[in-house]
Amino acid sequence: MIGRNNHLVSINDVEIEKLLDFAYSIEFNLYEKLSCEGKILANLFYEPSTRTSSSFASAMYRLGGDVISINDVNYSSVSKGENLQDTIRTMSNYCDIIVLRSAMAGNCATAARVSEVPIINAGDGNGEHPTQTLLDLYTIWKKFDRIKDLRVTFVGDIENGRTVHSLAKALEGNCELNYCETYEVDELPESDVYYLTRVQRERGSTGTYELTERMVRWMPEDCIVLHPFPRNEEIPVWFDDDPRAKYFEQMKNGLYIRMALLHKYI
Ligand code: CP
Repeated sequence: MIGRNNHLVSINDVEIEKLLDFAYSIEFNLYEKLSCEGKILANLFYEPSTRTSSSFASAMYRLGGDVISINDVNYSSVSKGENLQDTIRTMSNYCDIIVLRSAMAGNCATAARVSEVPIINAGDGNGEHPTQTLLDLYTIWKKFDRIKDLRVTFVGDIENGRTVHSLAKALEGNCELNYCETYEVDELPESDVYYLTRVQRERGSTGTYELTERMVRWMPEDCIVLHPFPRNEEIPVWFDDDPRAKYFEQMKNGLYIRMALLHKYI
């Protein structure tokens, strides 16, 4: 048992270390033996996505299953005024699991109450983004061999960054957490993990910041820099070749995490 119940709404719903172990076995040897053949995933996205929607679809195809893609609900009956509950009840008839991204915190919990099939929260407004957190943790775990006793600094949009909310929830009590809001990103505390986030303008956040050469020179040699992406100006592309830049590996890890999740929740 990896999930604590049938739905993944919050990071608190997952037995994290078991899930990371399972994803590791998928990445390094096991996944050809796993199968979701005959199963259908519905991607239901009320907000745009590249990584989450595509990696869930890729994960399902790699497991031999199929995908219904509603990657923009404006091309569904939502545009005719259908409410969330009716949409979820409808989609429950046609698939074995629903991956839901919504614009409002709490919507995934609402969906879980009426769904006949598991709901996976793919980001709900400024609430949580637990599957992102699992791939973040997986990236940290592969680098440091642990997800505790680390110094983790969150940089950028703390208030509206749902990836920060879920990751902080997962690490709280086990790691030393620091927070640098957008307007105070000037000097960063010494850390093992720097978790940078985009300013969520679509949720009313303002401001801007950018990793500078001076900050980068000052960062420990053995740290890692993560970002859930998409990025804007906060990480300049010249930093991409730095061995501490792990964000492309991080997004690749999303595939193994989501294969593990689909296999366990369906
Ligand atoms: N990190 C993340 O959720 O990316 P997408 O918005 O592209 O899915």
